[in-house]
Amino acid sequence: MRRETKAPAELIVLGIESSCDETAAGVVRVRPADGPRGEILANVVASQTELHAPFGGVVPEIAARAHAERLEPVTREALNVAGIALEEVDLIAVTAGPGLIGGVLSGVMFAKGLVAATGKPLVGVNHLAGHALTVRLASPTPFPYLLLLVSGGHCQFLAVRGPRDFLRLGGTIDDAPGEAFDKVARLVGLPQPGGPHVERVARRGDAARFAFPRPLLDRDDAHLSFSGLKTAVLRARDRLLAEQGGLTRQDQADLAASFQAAVRDVLAEKSRRALALFEERLGRRPSRFAVAGGVAANESLRAALEEVAARAQIPFDAPPLPLCTDNGAMIAWAGAEWYLDGRQDDPTLAARPRWPLDETSPALLGAGRKGAKA
Ligand code: KG4
Ligand code: ZN
Repeated sequence: MRRETKAPAELIVLGIESSCDETAAGVVRVRPADGPRGEILANVVASQTELHAPFGGVVPEIAARAHAERLEPVTREALNVAGIALEEVDLIAVTAGPGLIGGVLSGVMFAKGLVAATGKPLVGVNHLAGHALTVRLASPTPFPYLLLLVSGGHCQFLAVRGPRDFLRLGGTIDDAPGEAFDKVARLVGLPQPGGPHVERVARRGDAARFAFPRPLLDRDDAHLSFSGLKTAVLRARDRLLAEQGGLTRQDQADLAASFQAAVRDVLAEKSRRALALFEERLGRRPSRFAVAGGVAANESLRAALEEVAARAQIPFDAPPLPLCTDNGAMIAWAGAEWYLDGRQDDPTLAARPRWPLDETSPALLGAGRKGAKA
């Protein structure tokens, strides 16, 4: 639905997120005139990590049930923290996809309930747009910019040309890096979610001990692949198990360090290509190179990407960690950007478990199909 109105001086936006295993609500004050600028008044996240831990991955039924139970208290807490009454909210934004159908549905139904009770306008936001636009919530960033989205379920390079205008320049053809970090953690006996643990033990490891593959570097595009790398780590581990009957602490650290170096090298090299592709396709340089998503927490990856940007003389940015991982403020912000861009949904808003950001580019083989997270 398109809406033609003059931008208000200030918007208080409630954002609701429930597409994977975080039930989240955020309240953001947006001043459309200044850029626009956003101020986070509250950002409450109820993680379901412990609920899913015994199963080694996110169980959709458990997630949906927990969202249904937690949406109301989490939203109430966010409004309390912000010191805002529901009646003072100007806009309700909710993740309408992509993600686990049960979770997305719970969030959409809940948001519709709030809209029915208050008569506030509603915007159904694409979760990936939330990650992509958060760069502008964290610091003023003009369009167009290059974004690398690296999370548990996604890995893509996007040219962000406007609030609802995304061009995919490349992405994974199989697994997402976060998924690979989680798998490698399981292989070497570390807890879930694996990324932070792999990074921690990699610090005392020898990244040169195992020569893991750097997939797709022979291809001159910005596509990526991580499933072969995962298998290579599995083989190396199995060889050690067969030879020694177990892994030493040093083996564990060396496997982690060698794996992390391979992911870092591939993402850095493909970032170089994505920067070139950006210029080729858009006819100009990006205002910024930004990285978002849970894997963006990885310090060695951040450092490598920062160096790529520095060499290309393009400012680099990574939103602060709480804004990199799933949260409600990012949905509130993206909702505001879409609303100010003329987007509004009516109460028939549907959940879209599959919802590519760039609907013009062909789907990549298997991309984003395996991971529950986005
Ligand atoms: O963005 P996120 O919180 O959830 C979505 O996927 O939307 O990302 C979670 C993923 C997990 O796979 C986790 O292992 C990974 O991000 N991760 C990391 C680090 N911190 C979290 N991967 C590598 N290094 C880290 N420090
Ligand atoms: Zn996400």
